[in-house]
Amino acid sequence: MQKPFVTLKLAQTLDGCIATTLGDSKWITSAASRAQGHQLRAEADAILVGAGTVRADDPELSVRLVEGKSPTKIVLDAQLDIAPDRKVFDGAPLILIAAEGVAQDRIYARESDGAQVWQVGKSHAGQLNLAQVMARMIQSGLQTLLIEGGSRVAASALQDGLVDRLVVFIAPKILGVGLPSVGALGFERIADAIQLQDIDVKPIGDDLMYTAHIKK
Ligand SMILES: NC(=O)c1ccc[n+]([C@@H]2O[C@H](COP(=O)([O-])OP(=O)(O)OC[C@H]3O[C@@H](n4cnc5c(N)ncnc54)[C@H](OP(=O)(O)O)[C@@H]3O)[C@@H](O)[C@H]2O)c1
Repeated sequence: MQKPFVTLKLAQTLDGCIATTLGDSKWITSAASRAQGHQLRAEADAILVGAGTVRADDPELSVRLVEGKSPTKIVLDAQLDIAPDRKVFDGAPLILIAAEGVAQDRIYARESDGAQVWQVGKSHAGQLNLAQVMARMIQSGLQTLLIEGGSRVAASALQDGLVDRLVVFIAPKILGVGLPSVGALGFERIADAIQLQDIDVKPIGDDLMYTAHIKK
């Protein structure tokens, strides 16, 4: 299958949370890590998040903390119910990924709000089919993708075998119970866990920047 090179970026506590149970995630990591995160954005053709992240954080998904061009934004929004006053509608081009069969008037409304809408089918898990999103990206000349979450999107992308590289910023913070950086994958045995290789760890301020590739 043709797909972009996919980096999954996570900014998490030492115990693997990307937000509190109430959805607060600002800010887990240091300013230096966040600038490095913007560098990853500047190096990508596109950046992808789920509707949950847009609802919780209202992110701009732009490059601001380093020099560079903001990537095209892709948001998984099956029913196109993200409000057009969200910040993702400003700045670099926005592509909303909707489910096939979504009401045509919703598509027209979002297009008139300035977004492009791509419709894709459902995956075996009943969610938007990420492999179809990737294929469409290649057709559109988007060859590198940065996935920035949230928890459920990270799980889907890993489960579907679409992630090539992981960049995890780990902050010296502990939340105990919180939103896990990667949602449920359903593994019952350690032997089934997704395995990583080519590990590189470097300090970045008080945080760690952990980079690895997925063992295929
Ligand atoms: N610290 C960090 O690095 C970081 C980064 C990003 C987000 N966050 C935090 O993560 C939280 C949001 O995470 P979340 O897990 O609730 O939501 P999410 O992963 O951002 O979005 C999940 C939603 O995306 C849509 N979706 C469509 N197709 C999907 C697919 N194939 N796989 C997964 N989702 C799909 C679904 O909504 P529809 O059915 O409406 O389409 C689904 O409910 C927020 O609290 C945010 O602050 C933290």
